[in-house]
Amino acid sequence: MADLPSLVQRAQDAAIAVRMPLRREGTGPSCCLPAVGRFLAVLAAGCSGGLIGEAGTGVGYGAAWMASAMPVDRRLVTVELDDKRVVAARGVFADEPRVEVVHGDSFHELARRAPFDLLFADGGNQPAGIVDLLRIGGRLVNDDVTPVDALPADSPYREHDPKRQFFFGDPRLVAAEVVLPDLQNSLLVGTRVS
Ligand SMILES: C[S@@+](CC[C@H](N)C(=O)[O-])C[C@H]1O[C@@H](n2cnc3c(N)ncnc32)[C@H](O)[C@@H]1O
Repeated sequence: MADLPSLVQRAQDAAIAVRMPLRREGTGPSCCLPAVGRFLAVLAAGCSGGLIGEAGTGVGYGAAWMASAMPVDRRLVTVELDDKRVVAARGVFADEPRVEVVHGDSFHELARRAPFDLLFADGGNQPAGIVDLLRIGGRLVNDDVTPVDALPADSPYREHDPKRQFFFGDPRLVAAEVVLPDLQNSLLVGTRVS
């Protein structure tokens, strides 16, 4: 596999400095998984118009993957509530003027900057009207989903998962669940078509 982009390396270093877990561990927030970062980079690389957004910056790990891959004329805005993580993320992107790290409530700030070509919703309460923040053809991504086959036999999420119901229940989205190579984690991606 290719070397890590330098921005991603900087975000990893920042995560260690502020003690933000690089993997999903325990109950607190962590950086997205590397496979999610690579998937986000694939989507960001295809953004030919509009803005890329992220709710919940952390220290900028997912944003670093997207910013490393997005076309040179694209911009990314990412919003974080926690002061220390905002400072850390601003450090990561200090030499990258195309990335804006906003300190505030994610969906309040993102709604003021919509529409988005790509939106990684990874922090804050996702509003019911989130699809309105996408342009037609824009993509929405959620991670931290467990594939049904990896859930315990008695898990209620086998029958009822609000995230899956949202992605597959909104007629304006063409959606898919993408299972990551570890087969223990997946993400949901939807393209707004109307
Ligand atoms: C899972 S972490 C984000 C990881 C990051 N997206 C990445 O890919 O590395 C979730 C982040 O959302 C932030 N957060 C939680 N509620 C928020 C809100 N209402 N507005 C902005 N950020 C929020 C948390 O402080 C935390 O840093």
